[in-house]
Amino acid sequence: MRKRLFSAIQPSGTLHIGNYLGAIRNWVKLQYDYESFFCIVDLHAITVPQNPKELRKKTIEVAKIYLACGIDPKVSTIFIQSQVPQHAEMMWLLNTITKVSELKRMTQFKDKSEGKGVLAGLLNYPILMAADILLYDTNVVPVGEDQLQHVELTRTLARRFNSKFKNLLVEPKALIEKEGMRIMGLDDPSKKMSKSADSSYNYISLTDSDEIIKDKIKKAVTDSGKSIKYTDTKQAIKNLINIYALLDNAKPADIEEAYRRKGYAAFKTDLAEIVISFLKPLQGKMRSIEDAEVIKILNQGAEKAREIAQIKLSEVKKIIGLIV
Ligand code: AMP
Ligand code: TRP
Repeated sequence: MRKRLFSAIQPSGTLHIGNYLGAIRNWVKLQYDYESFFCIVDLHAITVPQNPKELRKKTIEVAKIYLACGIDPKVSTIFIQSQVPQHAEMMWLLNTITKVSELKRMTQFKDKSEGKGVLAGLLNYPILMAADILLYDTNVVPVGEDQLQHVELTRTLARRFNSKFKNLLVEPKALIEKEGMRIMGLDDPSKKMSKSADSSYNYISLTDSDEIIKDKIKKAVTDSGKSIKYTDTKQAIKNLINIYALLDNAKPADIEEAYRRKGYAAFKTDLAEIVISFLKPLQGKMRSIEDAEVIKILNQGAEKAREIAQIKLSEVKKIIGLIV
């Protein structure tokens, strides 16, 4: 039997090249080695305020991005989290074995919970993520390094459940792809590119037009000095070289060499062309996918996911002492 893989993206904001390079690109390759589940986690998205109409639109858009990037619905299961109610139910059960101190320690929680009126959903977010993963006997979870802490907590909860009750939950491993793992913001290379960034100059969205891409890359911050060097002391250019290298299947050292005498302007012009020629066909594919087709794929995905998730959920409930 093939090992299981589970991963997910929130339908909040616009997916950007960081999401592609750090996540979806790896999924496309991995789907042939693992029995894969790719979820659109709308219940996670609502832990911060969302506009209902936008949320619906984004949810379908993420599904189209999955498909356009090469996730094959004949090979993998694609579904919307809220259409599989077992996730929320499993979360409640796990919530009874999770310590508040464990949740408060999460970096993402600490980052997002500044100020007063912090919502419980934000604190409990990693328990829902653990439920997503554990319901499917997941072996591997491909994610960016920022999610590592959440996967660790998932492992802790699985172990805790297993030793408290019975060996029912599979302990998953995080799969981190080194190179693509952290694409930084174009306007601030000390922080990761993020769809919730204040300025759209932080990211290149997968749906940006050619003109916008050119403008954003032109305005991307650069380091002091003129040379194109791939080094940790030049975070801005290092990040741009990473994007170039990943999209063009090139080595950073070769890019450095190629632009040694050409300087920033030429490098940025070429980088914009590379990003555009990568995104053009992707955007074309997205436009060619009808809403009805996506909805059908999502319905079939949810149906399959519910069947699998229900088996695990019932086992868990029984062992805890709930009457099933
Ligand atoms: P998020 O955008 O936070 O919902 O993340 C969705 C997936 O994309 C996760 O696997 C993240 O780790 C990954 N991801 C998000 N932002 C980046 C980034 N700037 N660089 C690399 N991977 C990212
Ligand atoms: N928390 C993840 C993120 O923001 C999204 C996510 C939710 C996820 N459930 C998951 C990722 C399960 C992997 C597996 O990126």
